[in-house]
Amino acid sequence: MAIVGMGLPDRYAVIGHPVAHSLSPLVHSCFAEQLDQIVRYTRIDATPEAFAATARDFFRDRGHGLNVTLPHKAAALELSDTISDRARLAGAVNTLTRNADGSIAGDNTDGVGLVRDLTANLGLELNGRRILLLGAGGAARGILAPLLAEKPAHLAICSRTPAKPHELARSYLKLGRVKGCTYRVLPGKRYDLIINATSASLEGKLPPLPDDLAAGAVCYDMYYCDHDTPFTRWAKEHGARSAHLGFGMLVEQAAESFYLWRGLRPQTYPVIALLRHA
Ligand code: ATR
Repeated sequence: MAIVGMGLPDRYAVIGHPVAHSLSPLVHSCFAEQLDQIVRYTRIDATPEAFAATARDFFRDRGHGLNVTLPHKAAALELSDTISDRARLAGAVNTLTRNADGSIAGDNTDGVGLVRDLTANLGLELNGRRILLLGAGGAARGILAPLLAEKPAHLAICSRTPAKPHELARSYLKLGRVKGCTYRVLPGKRYDLIINATSASLEGKLPPLPDDLAAGAVCYDMYYCDHDTPFTRWAKEHGARSAHLGFGMLVEQAAESFYLWRGLRPQTYPVIALLRHA
């Protein structure tokens, strides 16, 4: 373990706006404790106007790594001196790391975090399955490439207006069988997995889904809170196989960031359980 700054703990933070609600400090402190790492992890609230200067100051001040959350993920891509393939494909950066030479590396661990939660934690096989992705914004784009890498039979991206999902699908066609659609014209009646990547849950709303769509499907909301969202409630009320909030994705993407920064993989299961029951 590299201790720098004359014995001071290595500094990390989550940067967002707002950020007071972020569970990342709790998650990372659990990881650090598990692996005997001496780190300091804080929250930084920065407006979009202040983001770049605040992030640069953090790294100039010997900060080691930043987790980047809304609304700064596209700005973090701009700020990065080097960008990983998965961040480039996602069009967003959620993890910034200061290299030994002071340059800043941008990566994205959201997609791998989601896929790990779906496959390793929830035991789902995605290969050959039919996936419906709700939403065509940044959150959806961030997970598309890792989902397609699992080789689903097809993946439909759905939003209320056709232009955005069609455009998004077109730009990912090389990576797999992906199609854009609207809620009114879905390319199938049965999906094995429905992922909510819209911002509807944030506003306490439900995307305009046909009720018969939930039957037998695993329904996953990327959003998390201490109660059911309208989406997970809808899923449970309409015969879904199971319904999940995004705690697992949160912890898995954090674990991947921790690995990038510290070279060690924490155990995620106890931390997910802690968040679910907290
Ligand atoms: P982000 O970058 O966080 O994904 P965004 O780019 O604003 O945020 O995208 C939000 C997504 O949530 C959009 O795809 C939006 O869908 P539409 O294209 O249909 O507008 C989706 N969204 C927001 N509120 C929604 C709602 N009440 N029902 C369905 N989709 C909603």
